[in-house]
Amino acid sequence: MLKHIPSTPGKFKMEKSPYILNKSRWHWHSSIMKLTFWSFIFLGLIFIFFFRSPSSNPIPQDPSRRSLRTHNWGGPAWEKRVRSSARIRSRNGISVLVTGAAGFVGTHVSTALKRRGDGVLGLDNFNDYYDPSLKRARQALLDRTGVFVVEGDINDSTLLKKLFEVVPFTHVMHLAAQAGVRYAMENPSSYVHSNIAGLVSLLEACKSANPQPAIVWASSSSVYGLNSKVPFSEKDRTDQPASLYAATKKAGEEIAHTYNHIYGLSLTALRFFTVYGPWGRPDMAYFFFTRDILKGKTISIFEAANHGTVARDFTYIDDIVKGCLAALDTAEKSTGSGGKKKGPAQFRVYNLGNTSPVPVSDLVSILERLLKVDAKRNVMKLPQNGDVRFTHANISLAQRELGYKPSTDLQTGTKKFVRWYLSYYSGGNKAAG
Ligand SMILES: *[C@@H]1O[C@H](CO)[C@@H](O)[C@H](O)[C@H]1NC(C)=O
Ligand SMILES: *[C@@H]1O[C@H](CO)[C@@H](O)[C@H](O)[C@H]1NC(C)=O
Repeated sequence: MLKHIPSTPGKFKMEKSPYILNKSRWHWHSSIMKLTFWSFIFLGLIFIFFFRSPSSNPIPQDPSRRSLRTHNWGGPAWEKRVRSSARIRSRNGISVLVTGAAGFVGTHVSTALKRRGDGVLGLDNFNDYYDPSLKRARQALLDRTGVFVVEGDINDSTLLKKLFEVVPFTHVMHLAAQAGVRYAMENPSSYVHSNIAGLVSLLEACKSANPQPAIVWASSSSVYGLNSKVPFSEKDRTDQPASLYAATKKAGEEIAHTYNHIYGLSLTALRFFTVYGPWGRPDMAYFFFTRDILKGKTISIFEAANHGTVARDFTYIDDIVKGCLAALDTAEKSTGSGGKKKGPAQFRVYNLGNTSPVPVSDLVSILERLLKVDAKRNVMKLPQNGDVRFTHANISLAQRELGYKPSTDLQTGTKKFVRWYLSYYSGGNKAAG
């Protein structure tokens, strides 16, 4: 950070050490005073730098600072907006707090709930893990649907407490998280902040809320880690994570179990398998492959040892949304109150995949056909820093208990994504990345 501060003239101007030169005492004094003076100026500049640059700061912010920055909530008008957004408008409707509402899955789930008459309030910290303008565009979409997104952090317990005071949410759809597998090597603490500290702070707020909401939240297929038995079933081992992301999601599942056990919170974890579609996340391969193919840039396609296939169980967003809504609709009430458990509460874990893994190179061929551009392929060995070779969901549990039945194949879903991508990035929105 220091390198961004303009160097202060004079700070290092003592070219020669006063110890060596036979200077007068007065001169020695004046050097000390000069040094003190410039030190104050320097500290002053640091001070100014920190306190006047919350919006124009080009440096990715420390996540703990992010939460301090956003305190622009509260007041009667704000409460009115919160209540109105969360108001149930259909018979037997539910009232849902959606965290990560301006995210990819969050936006789709929020609009789907709102459209069927449920009350929905969004919460999002709009961090800059990827282009925040995409999150703002999703927010505008939510706004048109009648979903208000409160700007704040899930680790801000004062804000959460306030939200539960204003609205007696029946459900929480917890989708806020630090995603991405390789980014964990750059910024490990952001995973701890969102996926662990944030989750605990959210569960604390839910535990104390009256009534306690039922919680459905996003875990990840990455918890299967190095498990090589396919397809992945919920009962398979999940104690060999291959990335910090996976480890924090796995930790989240254990933390959820604790809150279920001690406080009677109804908890459902959904293990998502490579979700894709319109309004998706730019850090995912299908998204940046599209961008790079259109730009004529070479794309890196991973292969496993001995030319082994790297494949993903790509799951289309509309199928995921149906799974999320079904999980909310089948969630039983939490049993606790006043922070105390009254009886055993529901605890569930489901795979939400497509149960049809596709090699990543096939995804590239589909994109080439849809974009009518040949990709420049660079086949590389799969790095050993988080990505697993293969994901394949066994979805029979979700099928049986949620009526989950994915119906979009990769070809159909990618076509819808590409149509969105081309219209979004030609319609006045700046090119991705
Ligand atoms: C989360 O918020 C609490 C205050 O509510 C703060 O003390 C803590 O440092 C925060 N944790 C992280 C990881 O930002
Ligand atoms: C899928 O999971 C179910 C349990 O939910 C299990 O009975 C079934 O054998 C699994 N199928 C495969 C192919 O592993």
